[in-house]
Amino acid sequence: MPTKVDMEKIVSLCKRRGFIFPSSDIYGGLASCWDYGPMGVELKRNVKEAWWKAMVQDRDDVVGLDTSIMMHPGVWAASGHIDSFTDPLVECKSCHLRWRADVVEGNKCPKCGGELTEPRMFNLMFKTFMGPVEEEASVVYLRPETAQGIFVNFENVVTTSRKKLPLGIAQIGKSFRNEITPGNFIFRTREFEHMELEYFVKPGTDEKWLDYWVKKRFDWYVKMGVKRENLRLRQHGKDELAHYAKDCHDVEYRFPMGWSELEGIANRGDFDLTQHARCSGKDLSYYDAEAGDKYVPYVIEPSAGVDRSVLAFMIDAYDEEEVEKEKRTVLHFHHSLAPIKVAVLPLSRNEKLTPVAKEVFKQLCPSFVTDYDDSQSIGRRYRRQDEIGTPFCVTIDFESLEDKQVTIRDRDSLAQIRVPIEGLEKVIEAKLKGEAFDASALWATRQK
Ligand code: GAP
Repeated sequence: MPTKVDMEKIVSLCKRRGFIFPSSDIYGGLASCWDYGPMGVELKRNVKEAWWKAMVQDRDDVVGLDTSIMMHPGVWAASGHIDSFTDPLVECKSCHLRWRADVVEGNKCPKCGGELTEPRMFNLMFKTFMGPVEEEASVVYLRPETAQGIFVNFENVVTTSRKKLPLGIAQIGKSFRNEITPGNFIFRTREFEHMELEYFVKPGTDEKWLDYWVKKRFDWYVKMGVKRENLRLRQHGKDELAHYAKDCHDVEYRFPMGWSELEGIANRGDFDLTQHARCSGKDLSYYDAEAGDKYVPYVIEPSAGVDRSVLAFMIDAYDEEEVEKEKRTVLHFHHSLAPIKVAVLPLSRNEKLTPVAKEVFKQLCPSFVTDYDDSQSIGRRYRRQDEIGTPFCVTIDFESLEDKQVTIRDRDSLAQIRVPIEGLEKVIEAKLKGEAFDASALWATRQK
C-alpha cells in the first residue's frame, strides 16, 4: 500500500501553516537547510520531549548528558571518523556536479550524461578553525554524531552518578554532515538533530540488549501513533555496517520515496571505549565490585534523527477527508505531539462573546499550549486547526453567555460535547490523556 501523500503536499503544508520554512528564505534559501516555524518548533520540542521521557525519565538505568558540538580533534581520530567517515564520490567531467558513487549507475552523469571520474573518498565532517589563526593546528570538526560526547564522558558519568551497569547515557543535540546528496526535504540535511542513547552493558549480554532495544524502539513509534503497517525492521548486511558496528538493525518507515531508515540500533561492541582508552591513555574499563569483575563495556546504540522523526510523524498523521461535502486536510497527531493542544474559538468577533472567550483562553493557557482565533468563519477556523493537528477546539457561542457552557470539538471523531466552563481544563486534560490515543477507533465512529 503506497503512502497517500507525496512530499510536495507536506512541504507545502509546512510552509503554509508555519511548520517549516526554507532557511534564509528571503535570499532564495540555502540548499538542504530548513527553519522551524511556530508550529514546527512546538512539534519538534514535543518529539524530543517524548523521546527524553521514554528513554531517560521513565527509567532508572539511563541518565542524560549535553556535550559540546566542537570536541578535541583527537576524538575524531580515535573514533575512526577522520579515516572512515567517508562516502565514495564521483564528479562529472562536463558539468562538474558531484554524486555519491553508490547512487549512480554506470559512469554517465545523471544530469547531463557527461563522463564521470573514478570514485574517490570524501570525508563527511565539516571542518573549521578554532581561534583567530587558520592553520592545521587549530582545525576542529563539527560533530557528525552526538555519541562521541557520551563515550569521552563515560568515566565522568559512571563516577558521579554512582550507577551500575547496564547503564545508558542519552543525548539530544545537533550534528553536522557534509552530505553529498542531501534531499527529500528534512529527510537528509547537512545540519540535523540526533537523539542518541549509548547503553553500556557487560560483554556477552550485548546481543540480548540489542534485541531488547530494537523491539523497544520499534514499539515507541507505534505508541507515538505511527501506523504499524508503515514501519518495518531491516538488519544491515555485513557490507553496509558502519566502521564501528558489529551488527545494526534499522527501523524503516514507508516514506513517499519508499522504505527508508528512520532510526538505526547498532551493537558498537567495545570499539569506541577501547579506541578512546588507547588514544587518550585513560583506563575506560568498568569495575563491577559485586562480581569482582573488570571489563570494557559493550555498547548498544539506538540512534534516531529528530527531523526525520518529525517528517515521519507528519506524513503518517496526514489525511485528506470529506466532511459535510467539503474536503478537509487533517493531521491526526498523537495528542502529545500536536503543536497546539486546544484552540479557543468564539463563534464570532462579537463584543459579548470576546470577553468570555478571552477568559476561557486565560483559564486554559497555564495548562496547555492554547491558541486563540476569532478571525474568519468558524468553519474556516476549524479547517485551520485540523491542518495543524489541534486535538480540541473549544467554541464559545451565545448560549455560553447564559448557560456558562462551551462546546468541545474532537479533531478525529468530529464529535462535539457541551461542558461547563468551570473545570474545563480538567475535561481537556482527561481527553488529552484518554481514549483518543487510539485514533483509528475514533475515526471509525466519526460523524460525517
Ligand atoms: N551514532 C550513530 C549514527 O549517527 P546514523 O545511522 O548515521 O547513526 C542515525 O544516524 C539517525 O540519524 C538516522 O537513522 C537518521 O534518522 C538520522 N540522520 C543521519 N543522517 C542524517 C542526515 N543527514 N539528515 C537527517 N537525519 C539524519
